[in-house]
Amino acid sequence: MSIFQDWPEPIVRVQSLSESNLRAIPNCYVKPLSQRPNLPSQNRRTTTTIPIIDLGGLYKEDITLRTKTLENISKACREWGFFQVVNHGMSPQLMERAKESWRQFFHLPMELKNMHANSPKTYEGYGSRLGVEKGAILDWSDYYYLHYSPSSLKDYTKWPSLPLHCRDILEDYCKEMINLCENLMKILSTNLELEEDKLQNAFGGKEESGGCLRVNYYPKCPQPDLTLGLSPHSDPGGLTILLPDEQVAGLQVRGSDDAWITVEPAPNALIVNIGDQIQMLSNSIYKSIEHRVVVSPAKERLSLAFFYNPKGNVPIEPLKELVTVDSPAQYTTTTYDQYRQFIRTQGPRSKSHIEELRSPR
Ligand code: OGA
Ligand code: NI
Repeated sequence: MSIFQDWPEPIVRVQSLSESNLRAIPNCYVKPLSQRPNLPSQNRRTTTTIPIIDLGGLYKEDITLRTKTLENISKACREWGFFQVVNHGMSPQLMERAKESWRQFFHLPMELKNMHANSPKTYEGYGSRLGVEKGAILDWSDYYYLHYSPSSLKDYTKWPSLPLHCRDILEDYCKEMINLCENLMKILSTNLELEEDKLQNAFGGKEESGGCLRVNYYPKCPQPDLTLGLSPHSDPGGLTILLPDEQVAGLQVRGSDDAWITVEPAPNALIVNIGDQIQMLSNSIYKSIEHRVVVSPAKERLSLAFFYNPKGNVPIEPLKELVTVDSPAQYTTTTYDQYRQFIRTQGPRSKSHIEELRSPR
């Protein structure tokens, strides 16, 4: 629970700004020069893309194919921390229905959306900023944030009441997401040469792990070169599964040479990335990679980010199986409840949050 009761400044919906056909964006969205997208120094032409992994191989009898798939995931987690998955088991119809109901939500009249306005106390509901620092430079996006699990945190009154069926669709969507996350947790654990349930137990067990959804809405922007839809950050939680907008690219991942790589979503793919909690538990064998979102002058963009997180009060520290004389523990102990306060108060700040927990050498 945050100590902050309310936002430091009146909330302005980015969608309202966008729809008012401004020619210039307000100063509070203008990033300092060094953070703007499309800087020539950052955009060395690159043909690199994040790996695409076919999960179909996991569910077949063929052991060789299964082993190869596990290896592909292992390599992607170690080398990238970010990958797309196809044949993941989620039906394309459900993915489309989920996106469509959120598109409808964001196109409801503002008074209806504002009935779900959020506050920094829990962040649940309809929001337009991350962080509570007065005078902060803001991102060009609105969002909706809600808890699905554990059941003690699920509160339907915090979910949108419209469009009709939105809650039912969300319920189906989040259930499938949990399945996929639980499967991935086993795979990651096995790939780290741990017992299959080790990572899940470190999260506090299946019943207590957290699942929440952040639906990002990036309105059209008249000056996309001056701002960002979402500033560089790594995800604070465990694992993220993103359902991207297939029509509009925008997500960029920081490559090993620091250049920003635009993710081109494959048809019906989901994008998986490692969050800070798994970076800490794995003692940096798996890394949470920085990413950001650029906006478009012509098209709005919608994405659904499902976050799978440890229970709030379990101690998170490098797993002892992964700490050796040659690779000592890189992080001091935290809990997810404590950890998430960084982003909730300061907003997205590259990888500075996890760096603050680095063990003194
Ligand atoms: C996020 C995120 C990326 C996107 O919600 O943490 O990184 O493409 N979203 O919207
Ligand atoms: Ni993110």
